[in-house]
Parts: sequence; structure tokens; C-alpha cells
Amino acid sequence: MRLILFGGPGSGKGTQAAILTTLLGIPHISTGDILRAERAAGTPLGQQAQSYMDRGELVPDQVIVEMVANRLQQPDTASGWLLDGFPRNVAQAAVFEEMLKSIHQDYDYLLFLDVPAAILQERALNRAKQAANGQQRSDDTPETILKRVQVYERETLPMIQQYMSHPKFVHIDGTRTIEEVTAAIQARIGEVNRV
Ligand code: AP5
Repeated sequence: MRLILFGGPGSGKGTQAAILTTLLGIPHISTGDILRAERAAGTPLGQQAQSYMDRGELVPDQVIVEMVANRLQQPDTASGWLLDGFPRNVAQAAVFEEMLKSIHQDYDYLLFLDVPAAILQERALNRAKQAANGQQRSDDTPETILKRVQVYERETLPMIQQYMSHPKFVHIDGTRTIEEVTAAIQARIGEVNRV
């Protein structure tokens, strides 16, 4: 099973990805998590990404595309994968489609967690408030959360709109409870019996 999760900051991508990848036994590939790990390790990639992330901006496409291409060639992806946070704009989507053709892979579903901007901001702010000391994400400040939502609306929504007519596109109401969202995804991807 190869899945792509689209949605704004705080739409529940990470939450649903963790549940689905455990249930399906596939790797969770989160570009945000990879970048945060690179930052924590102090690698050149992490240092390059830091200022973009802290401003709530997208990290340059070339950096991200190369990172995903490398990750998709790791042996654990043979069983499938779930991509969380990529592709994130029209340019990344175009390169990604070509990348998949070159490695003879395709996705099964494009899952869009649809959550309005006001709820996105509320959830990210709540997460920041609930974080224990030292665990708050550096981009979970009120200003950066607002910026991330604006970047999502400006850069990611146009890409999602392009995919809406795709036969593999699945619209999910992401405003429901975590359990309800998981159940809605399971019902749509036809994995109800397996999980
Ligand atoms: P990334 O790590 O991808 O973060 P994001 O898109 O801003 O999303 P979040 O992780 O904040 O939210 P989420 O949708 O995963 O929601 P979550 O499950 O955590 O990206 C970070 C940065 O990295 C970007 O800004 C950019 O700089 C860079 N980057 C990453 N990918 C890139 C790319 N492709 N190109 C360029 N740059 C890139 O949930 C949020 C909260 O809500 C939690 O507290 C959760 O418990 C709660 N919650 C979840 N679901 C529900 C529900 N159904 N009901 C109530 N609460 C819920």
C-alpha cells in the first residue's frame, strides 16, 4: 500500500500517519520529521532547513525532492510507504510524478485531510500549550503557525486542487475526532478487514 497524506499544519497528518503505518506495517515518511532529525543532528541539510522552518516557509524544493528520492530507495519501502508532508506545492508534485515513473512505482490513494484554517491554527496552538518543557516545536509559535497556514493556502492548496479530479483522490473531513477520521480513511482505502 502506498499512501500520500495531504493537509494543512495541524490537520492531523502526523497523528493519522502514525496510526495507519502501524496498522498497515508500512514506513511513515514525514518530510517534517526527517528535517527535524537532521536539525537535531546538526547536519548541513538540517542547518540549511532551520531558518526556513523557523519562519514557517517551505524548504527549497530541490533539497526536499532529493531527500525524498533517497528515502524512497531505502529497502524498507519495498512493502509500501506513507508520505506525510510531501509533495507540498505544484512544482514538487510535478517532480514527484516523474520520480515515481522513473522508479516504477505509483501511489494507491491521495488522502486529503480537509480542515478549515481556524481549526488548523487552534490545534497547533493547543499542541504548543500542551508541550512539556523543551518539547515544543520551534515553529509552533502563534506567529509561525499563522505563517504556516498562509503558506499552506498559498502553495499547497493549489496543488491539492489540481489533484481533486484524480481518480485516486480521497476527500476526508478532518474536523471529526481522531478515531472517526481513521475510520473514514479505512473505509475509503478498503483495508477495513486487514486492520
Ligand atoms: P511538517 O512537519 O510537515 O508540519 P506541518 O505540515 O506544519 O504539520 P504539523 O506537523 O504541524 O501538523 P499535522 O498535520 O501533522 O497534525 P498533527 O497530527 O501533528 O512541516 C514542518 C516544516 O518543515 C514546514 O513548515 C516546512 O518548513 C518544512 N517542510 C516539511 N515538508 C516540506 C516540503 N515537502 N517542502 C518544503 N518544506 C517542507 O496534529 C496537530 C495537533 O492536533 C496535535 O496536537 C494532535 O493531537 C491534534 N489532532 C490531530 N487530529 C485531531 C482531530 N481529529 N481532532 C482533534 N485534534 C486533533
